[in-house]
Amino acid sequence: MERLKDKVAVITGGANGIGKITVDKFLDEGAQVICWDINADAGKKLLAENEGKALKFEKVNTVNKAEVDQAVNDIITTYGRIDILINNAGITRDATLKKMTPDQWQSVLDVNLTGVFNCTQSISAHMVEKGSGKIVNASSVVGLYGNFGQSNYVATKSGVIGLTKVWARELGRKGINVNAVAPGFIATEMVETIPKKVIADLESKTPLGRLGKPEDIANAYVFLSSEEASFINGTTLSVDGGLVM
Ligand code: NAI
Repeated sequence: MERLKDKVAVITGGANGIGKITVDKFLDEGAQVICWDINADAGKKLLAENEGKALKFEKVNTVNKAEVDQAVNDIITTYGRIDILINNAGITRDATLKKMTPDQWQSVLDVNLTGVFNCTQSISAHMVEKGSGKIVNASSVVGLYGNFGQSNYVATKSGVIGLTKVWARELGRKGINVNAVAPGFIATEMVETIPKKVIADLESKTPLGRLGKPEDIANAYVFLSSEEASFINGTTLSVDGGLVM
């Protein structure tokens, strides 16, 4: 199936984890993919694994607005448009309220909120000119129900749900759909820091009885970027095996 045939798609944080599998799926679906990530080594590896495919990698720090604007201009010069933005890059710096440092607080807000804002502001301007586009943001189940030791992360993932609704309202009439995905706990490096006992507990609390796979989230990103989702706007799609209902 080529549900994203010839679409120009930017995927942030696409060099690892969920983003990397999303790059694979978007290529399979016929998109021209531009992956932005701060991890240049992982980007190089990604390019090598996908030699000959419609993939570009740029080392872009989404927190840096000037870098984002420059990278967007380069894409517009080369391809003339951006059809899809997947705001996938995100980080955790966990600590309890008592122990969280100002740096832990700020760095998570920078990547998970300011980075998403920067990419959306810069790319949506070009989507508005064209009168179409799809934007999908990475939230999280914890943005819906909170989580011990994640004041910074939860603030950003709840914030992303709010931003999704604001942008769905502001950009909907310009032909742009803005939605979010709220993944449950997905087996990536991000989750490797969680103690085994906590993981076992999460699996037992999930009606489907397992952690998610990066593919589960990549499939949701593809769907929300496709024409099949053309009347879906401002929603947060939970992809969590039923953990939060
Ligand atoms: P990951 O840590 O495996 O990959 C994140 C990627 O983002 C990395 O390649 C990293 O280099 C890149 N990145 C970090 N800061 C960046 C920046 N400033 N600019 C550009 N790239 C940057 O993470 P994972 O697990 O694949 O998560 C992807 C998204 O899904 C994140 O937004 C995360 O918060 C969200 N999520 C993940 C869950 C999980 O269980 N893994 C659960 C719920 C949400």
